[in-house]
Amino acid sequence: MNSIEPPHLPALPLIGSLLSLRSQHPPHVLFKELQKKYGQTYSLTMGSHRVVIVNQHVHAKEILLKKGKIFAGRPRTVTTDILTRDGKDIAFGDYSPAWRFHRKIVHGALCMFGEGSATIERMICAEAQSLCSTVSEAAALGLALDLAPELTRAVTNVVCSLCFNSSYARGDPEFEGMLRYSQGIVDTVAKDSLVDIFPWLQVSRCQHYSDNVQRDLLDALLRAKRSADNNNTADVDKATAGLSDDHLLMTVGDIFGAGVETTTTVLKWAVTYLIHHPDVQRRIQDELDTKIGADRSPRLRDRGSLPYLEATIREVLRIRPVAPLFIPHVALSDASIGDFKVKKGTRVIINLWSLHHDEKEWSNPEHFDPGRFLDSEGTGLTIPSSSYLPFGTGIRVCLGEALAKMELFLFLSWILQRFTLSVPPDHSLPSLEGKFGVVLQPVKYKVKATPRPADRTGSRALHR
Ligand code: HEM
Repeated sequence: MNSIEPPHLPALPLIGSLLSLRSQHPPHVLFKELQKKYGQTYSLTMGSHRVVIVNQHVHAKEILLKKGKIFAGRPRTVTTDILTRDGKDIAFGDYSPAWRFHRKIVHGALCMFGEGSATIERMICAEAQSLCSTVSEAAALGLALDLAPELTRAVTNVVCSLCFNSSYARGDPEFEGMLRYSQGIVDTVAKDSLVDIFPWLQVSRCQHYSDNVQRDLLDALLRAKRSADNNNTADVDKATAGLSDDHLLMTVGDIFGAGVETTTTVLKWAVTYLIHHPDVQRRIQDELDTKIGADRSPRLRDRGSLPYLEATIREVLRIRPVAPLFIPHVALSDASIGDFKVKKGTRVIINLWSLHHDEKEWSNPEHFDPGRFLDSEGTGLTIPSSSYLPFGTGIRVCLGEALAKMELFLFLSWILQRFTLSVPPDHSLPSLEGKFGVVLQPVKYKVKATPRPADRTGSRALHR
């Protein structure tokens, strides 16, 4: 049994290690800095909790993969308990047979509407088309546009179509409520208010549900739950017994909470980096022109033939990970990480920022270079380091990875096929520093979208 404790930051009674954590830097940057003094894996005390900070991929993978079940717990806090009606969601729910079953049916339902299904592609393309029309209108009037709310609306509408088979037009007041919900999700607003935002959720879905019609994810979840309820096999019996309508509502809350802000923020970072790197933008456009041309819009099946765009998306996810500290994990029993012993109940924070900016793994990590994800011929995709985990891995891997990748690919390819993005003349380039809140966000700025020559004759048709 290992006997060494991880190096510990100084701690005082009641305030724990707070004094060592005073810094003008956001936590992920500070935790990376503290490695210099305490090593790559160290611990600190927050209130009464022991927290281990992991800044390297070997330990991160030991936690997430090799010892995934041991470290699959989530911290319980008063706030998350209120938000999730005592952990009835996936992201904050503790590991248990009921949680495992819940995650499995949500995963199944997402797959049904996900990869391999034309439904989700149609939903995303409809939003991409609406987004491009808005950008086109602004460009025709010679106006620069803050793309952030437009991207948020597009991503929100995909999630709304997916969950409820509905979407919002520009300026819809209900959409404003929705924006406030998804922006404040983690720290302020309880999921109870989902029903306030979507009053029609109060009308029980079960009354309108039919086994034959599957309009959206909520129908798919109800169907999965019903078929599990009818299928009295011993192993699922106990788990499903606890799966209530509350669980389904919390699942929808999870998908909004985890799926809107994250994907929108990656899109905003992608646009920000593309504006800083017109050469990268041009190379993606060359690829689009050669492989797709101007007569039709990009489809998911084109992903394989657009490696430079895919490499750019990977690089954006590396350089600005939106969830730089993941969601904390908790050790469900006494365990070890490398040579360090870790007691049951210890919280573990994996600092993805350190993994993605580790100088030993990435040459010049602050430099934006999609080429690092291409093979030596420059035509195939690779992942050049094990220190790359934008969606996590193992039991708690992001549930929306496939959906997010589809959205990133389609939104970016549609925009770049039609427009070249820049800042308006006399405006300075937006900062690449970002603001750290629930996620790591770029600052607000306006974008000038110049229609590309083929688009001047009118918008491209959506060919199915
Ligand atoms: C968890 C990244 C989009 C649903 C996570 C985690 C990361 C992540 C790093 C934490 C893994 C861990 O704690 O070990 C991202 C990124 C996204 C994205 C970068 C966009 C580019 C989405 C979308 C959805 C979603 C679209 C919804 C469909 C979830 C859920 C969890 C999660 C439910 C919790 C999983 C669990 O605790 O078992 N995501 N995510 N995410 N994500 Fe995502």
